[in-house]
Amino acid sequence: MALHLDLTGLFGDGSDNRLTRDEFDAALPRAIAARETHLAAKPEWRGLGARDEFLAECQVRAAQVLEEQQPEALVVLGIGGSALGAQALLSALAPLYQQSEPAPGRPRVFVPDSVDPDWIGALLDHLPLDRCHVNVISKSGGTIATSAEFLVFYHAIRDAVGSEEEARKRFTITTDPEKGHFRKICDEQGFTTLTVPPGVGGRFSVLTSVGIFPAELAGMDVQSMLEGAARVDRKLDEVEPAADAALAYALAHVLYMERGKPIHVHFPYSQRARLLADWYAQLWAESLGKAEDLDGQVVHVGPTPVRAVGPTDQHSQCQLYVEGPDDKVYTLLKLGKFERELSVPTPFVDSPAFSHLAGKTFNELMEAERQGTEVALLEVGRPVCTIELCKLDAFHVGQYFLFMEAATAYAGGLLHIDPFDQPGVEAGKVAALALMGAPGYEKRAQEIRSSLAARTLFTLSC
Ligand code: PA5
Repeated sequence: MALHLDLTGLFGDGSDNRLTRDEFDAALPRAIAARETHLAAKPEWRGLGARDEFLAECQVRAAQVLEEQQPEALVVLGIGGSALGAQALLSALAPLYQQSEPAPGRPRVFVPDSVDPDWIGALLDHLPLDRCHVNVISKSGGTIATSAEFLVFYHAIRDAVGSEEEARKRFTITTDPEKGHFRKICDEQGFTTLTVPPGVGGRFSVLTSVGIFPAELAGMDVQSMLEGAARVDRKLDEVEPAADAALAYALAHVLYMERGKPIHVHFPYSQRARLLADWYAQLWAESLGKAEDLDGQVVHVGPTPVRAVGPTDQHSQCQLYVEGPDDKVYTLLKLGKFERELSVPTPFVDSPAFSHLAGKTFNELMEAERQGTEVALLEVGRPVCTIELCKLDAFHVGQYFLFMEAATAYAGGLLHIDPFDQPGVEAGKVAALALMGAPGYEKRAQEIRSSLAARTLFTLSC
């Protein structure tokens, strides 16, 4: 049981544009210094896998909800870091068609992660509202998208169940223990709450009640996920810096950014792992894309993560990857073992078009496709590394989360920026609040409206 990182394909012998081992080794002291600073700072997201209070509070609430409500559907309302963890977990660990065939005795789970009126409206029409449980997740308690989702679902469920009191029971609100609008409303109205620990930002919160409650209610093996994360976390403290896989991953990517390869493609060869790439993309982009460094210098630094899924995007984007600009680094995500083994049947065994498939499995084919991409990239000197999860179970998904969080934090240290804030995201949130008439934002609304008016100078239609 392990997560392996194979960096071999990131290094060349100097004859192409890849890093050489000597260049990487020469930069290691810089990475080790960033790591020491990071480990000494003891950021809040460290150790989450070993903290049992979140699992305990989620288990109690999930058991209560299952026993008292037997919900047919769980709706998770949140956005960005308050939705992507649950989505990644569901796609990786829940039954593949869980929205029609959930785990026995468990609800189907929906994570709309949007305020698209068609999307939300159709979901409201589709769900048995008197048999729903809703988990609202907002760390800040002030995100307008989540507030609006909460209001529309509360209104609809109250109508469906016939009373405020009954409706309140159908909600669990995951938010800051002290701050924010949701905390205030929950305290006043008596909604049941779960905790987002202070100091843990949305994109680092999947191992708290943010990810744990939906996963627990959907029947996933949360305990193993936390153990997997705790294993990697312990390793960060035990291992020699030069053998720290997360540090090596971060260093290689930062060095490549400095050499004109700022686009980082995350390429799982697993349909179920495809949303891990969405989770990664937020973590990598929101943590590392910053205007200023820690000294207040304007740097406008950051990688551009790209999500791909194999083999689909092998037959879609790989042309660009192999022959287009050499500005990318590729991470292939490989499963050591799929849950199933599926053979290719042999009805046309004498046909030269198919005979080589006789007796083969889809498992072999998946790996051949993955190696095909790897070889095609390596042969033209493109940097490729592979993260291998022995299998896609809760333990390894927990390892993956913690590994990527550590790599992100280290990369932030190497770039000399704060990976834990998100002023760019907050700017968009403030603008949306202002445009929706939130009190206190009147001046900002006026500024935005005048700048939008100036934009009508060049419009086209067809
Ligand atoms: O990672 C982050 O901090 C953000 O993506 C937030 O999770 C997102 O903006 C939602 O914020 P909140 O949970 O405060 O509603």
